[in-house]
Amino acid sequence: MLRHVRDDLYQIGESVAGRDGWHEAVRVYVLLNDGCPLLFDSGSHIHRGAIMEELKTLLGDVAPGYVFLTHTELPHTGNIQAILEAWPETKLVASSAILPHVELPWWVREEQVLYGYAGTDEIYGGRHISFLDGILKDQPGTHWMYDAQSGTLFTADAFGYLYPGEADLKFDDELRVEVEWLRRYHESAFRFLPQVSGAKLLAEIDQVFDKRDVRVIAPTHGNAMRQDIDRCRDRFSQAIKETCQ
Ligand SMILES: [Fe+2]
Ligand SMILES: [Fe+2]
Repeated sequence: MLRHVRDDLYQIGESVAGRDGWHEAVRVYVLLNDGCPLLFDSGSHIHRGAIMEELKTLLGDVAPGYVFLTHTELPHTGNIQAILEAWPETKLVASSAILPHVELPWWVREEQVLYGYAGTDEIYGGRHISFLDGILKDQPGTHWMYDAQSGTLFTADAFGYLYPGEADLKFDDELRVEVEWLRRYHESAFRFLPQVSGAKLLAEIDQVFDKRDVRVIAPTHGNAMRQDIDRCRDRFSQAIKETCQ
């Protein structure tokens, strides 16, 4: 479902409903970026038809310049083939920590992939995108990314949440994301958290926010949080404290 978040940031992608009635989002974010659109993740292959339609509606005749992959699991990379078939000049940008011959499909050509190095920033289509280690992740080659222009922090699997169906298309300022929704998601997405020090994890995440002017948090498995970032962080912190040691 296509929704405008703020500035030139859009959210597309669908969700899956579990048997217990809780929904999980699988989002793709797009920065229109004045003629060189930047995509963040490519969504799940099970939503291919809808995602490609939404992308074409949003982009019109303009080809995406780059698809930034937060990491290489299928819900994030499931449509790179369809995207590269539709727009063969588009480049992928993956973390330098991935193993390309193992984590990318065999048909991806070397010249189609660029690598982002944690702690650096690069210019893509005239826009600075910075790379940082994913602080909370389920694959080693997971990076978070930050777009200073819109203040968006792309957090991959972290900051997701499970939600009742009525929250499917609601941003945090339209329907409050509850601590319980965040906790349910994080305890199932990151099974190791009960063995983790919540205080240490949150201290590392604080550093990420202290160094940047974050105005939007963009999780793949939740909707963008775009209004009261401090309150969103408080609820996330509470969920982490309840899940971790
Ligand atoms: Fe993941
Ligand atoms: Fe994921």
